Amino acid sequence: MVSPGPHFAILTLLLTVSLAASASLEENFIQCLSFYSDKASPFSGTIYTPKNASFNKILESSAQNLRYLVPSAPKPEFIFTPLTDSHVQVAVTCSKKLGIHLRVRSGGHDYEGLSYVSEVESPFIIVDLSKLRGVEVNIEDNSAWIQAGATIGEVYYRIYEKSSVHGFPAGLCTSLGVGGHITGGAYGSMMRKYGLGADNVLDARLVDANGNILDREAMGEDMFWAIRGGGGASFGILLWWKIKLVPVPQTVTVFTVTRNLEQDATKIVHRWQEVAPYIDDDLFIRVIIQPATIGNKSERTITTSYNAQFLGGADRLLQVMKESFPELGLTRKDCLETSWIKSVLYIAGYPSDTPPEVLLEGKSTFKNYFKAKSDFVREPIPESGLQGLWQRLLEEDSPLMIWNPYGGMMSKFSESDIPFPHRNGTLYKIQYLSLWQDGDKNASKHIDWIRKLYNFMTPYVSKFPREAYVNYRDLDLGINKKNSTSYIQASSWGNMYFKDNFNRLVKIKTKVDPDNVFRHEQSIPPLPVSRMSLQDKKCKTWE
Ligand SMILES: Cc1cc2nc3c(=O)[nH]c(=O)nc-3n(C[C@H](O)[C@H](O)[C@H](O)COP(=O)(O)OP(=O)(O)OC[C@H]3O[C@@H](n4cnc5c(N)ncnc54)[C@H](O)[C@@H]3O)c2cc1C
Ligand SMILES: *[C@@H]1O[C@H](CO)[C@@H](O)[C@H](O)[C@H]1NC(C)=O
Ligand SMILES: *[C@@H]1O[C@H](CO)[C@@H](O)[C@H](O)[C@H]1NC(C)=O
Ligand SMILES: *[C@@H]1O[C@H](CO)[C@@H](O)[C@H](O)[C@H]1NC(C)=O
Ligand SMILES: *[C@@H]1O[C@H](CO)[C@@H](O)[C@H](O)[C@H]1NC(C)=O
Ligand SMILES: *[C@@H]1O[C@H](CO)[C@@H](O)[C@H](O)[C@H]1NC(C)=O
Repeated sequence: MVSPGPHFAILTLLLTVSLAASASLEENFIQCLSFYSDKASPFSGTIYTPKNASFNKILESSAQNLRYLVPSAPKPEFIFTPLTDSHVQVAVTCSKKLGIHLRVRSGGHDYEGLSYVSEVESPFIIVDLSKLRGVEVNIEDNSAWIQAGATIGEVYYRIYEKSSVHGFPAGLCTSLGVGGHITGGAYGSMMRKYGLGADNVLDARLVDANGNILDREAMGEDMFWAIRGGGGASFGILLWWKIKLVPVPQTVTVFTVTRNLEQDATKIVHRWQEVAPYIDDDLFIRVIIQPATIGNKSERTITTSYNAQFLGGADRLLQVMKESFPELGLTRKDCLETSWIKSVLYIAGYPSDTPPEVLLEGKSTFKNYFKAKSDFVREPIPESGLQGLWQRLLEEDSPLMIWNPYGGMMSKFSESDIPFPHRNGTLYKIQYLSLWQDGDKNASKHIDWIRKLYNFMTPYVSKFPREAYVNYRDLDLGINKKNSTSYIQASSWGNMYFKDNFNRLVKIKTKVDPDNVFRHEQSIPPLPVSRMSLQDKKCKTWE
């Protein structure tokens, strides 16, 4: 544990006196930073206000959802880009002291822009961790320390640089920031073999609500449990994760096979639901579903693309497919044998000769205006349901669905091992998206469409609660009201993301951040009765 300084209380007093009421927030923040900062790590050039020419460039840099960059979206007072862990620590201390709401951003992929826009509270600032991207791989120890601002692609690259037979089971999209990604679970093409990124975390370092840096031992097992799946920005600011590397074979096989409605897509997808969650753990076959025009036909059809990674060679893959899923008709020609790192690029959608070094650019390939939702499926959807779904997809301009198979290792963890509860009994997860490029003028049309689709799907998906993936943040499920931290109100979305783990998350939040320093529209609320229960305890001791 590293505390902010020896004479903290006295310094605090002096600082309070010296902060000028007439100065701007940013001037006060700078003054506070210089007051608390260790002189060895200067912070000049780390604060961008709207007056700086590069403000927009920095704001937009990693922001994924263009919906939250439109001119009407609230903008931060300034963006702070820390250069050291202690800068992050001081940012927490100073934002508390000055009463400025703080948002933290690692990779900027939040579906509702929560890392760079605050709709409910102003003024706010962004602490952007993009300059904190260390990755230290230790092959002998099968582990790595990875810093919050690194992308998951950089992590994969640094592992590959040291070994061709080690990997890490996390996201498919390589521009995800590990700070936000792993706090919500982090699934990818090796989830059926090794579970989630969050299932493979050994240790962590974070800045807590008091501005202290804590590792696993210092934070204790409750808080260490909460940060591995409890969602971003509720418990502290993650600085580093220590992750466990997993073995990958020298040869990995990938394929993408597409079938449209005229090629029996409905029957094959129906069959996929029964097969993909139970097939060999080395095989991950996701389905990407969207409307498309084929050849010179004027009408759109539905295309279903089976996009797969197999941890092994093509011969064994073909054997597995022949035994378990002959309906897809996979052939040797469809299969590409490659290395694990190239399979990562393939699944992420890079063109075939892209060198792995592209991962070091940390750039995203996917920026859109979008709205998304998620569901978990526990019983195969009947063909009639699939047909209704196709009909609705054909009514929208640019919809997309991605179905990810569960089973394998995902079923072997209990629902309470980490806060991510979607385990045994889950066949697959659906992600629904509507994408558009023409700004916000038709946004409500697309959002209405996806809400109606979500209603249509009710009978086919998980119930009591209807489950949702916290990393596919969806504010339609409810938001924390600005004037209260009502536990009852938050339990609607809380139970969807975390099931019974929500109660434990609330208890831990109440213990580690009772004043709700780390908050956003869907952060875990502390119980307002915390002080009362402390008093209860006192009474009992007194008795
Ligand atoms: C194109 C795309 C592809 C995706 N693919 C996958 C996938 O394959 N698998 C998967 O599991 N998910 C996927 N996701 C979802 C992704 O995991 C989440 O959006 C995740 O939260 C992104 O983390 P980030 O750091 O990039 O985002 P950010 O927007 O920076 O952060 C997300 C949330 O975490 C908070 N946060 C950020 N940094 C920290 C920190 N250091 N400490 C504490 N809280 C923090 C933010 O305030 C925000 O609330 C995808 C998202 C997109 C847009
Ligand atoms: C932003 O502008 C101010 C005032 O001109 C300057 O002092 C500061 O260094 C600039 N910030 C960055 C990151 O360049
Ligand atoms: C459409 O394509 C088919 C072959 O794919 C061809 O036979 C046919 O003539 C084409 N029709 C038109 C109107 O171009
Ligand atoms: C998963 O649940 C099924 C019953 O629903 C049970 O038969 C099976 O043993 C469970 N698997 C694990 C790994 O717990
Ligand atoms: C988008 O909105 C404009 C103006 O409201 C409308 O004319 C146009 O048809 C819309 N586009 C689509 C694809 O709906
Ligand atoms: C909080 O706000 C809601 C309206 O958004 C209002 O009805 C309620 O009375 C407020 N509660 C408190 C405690 O102020």
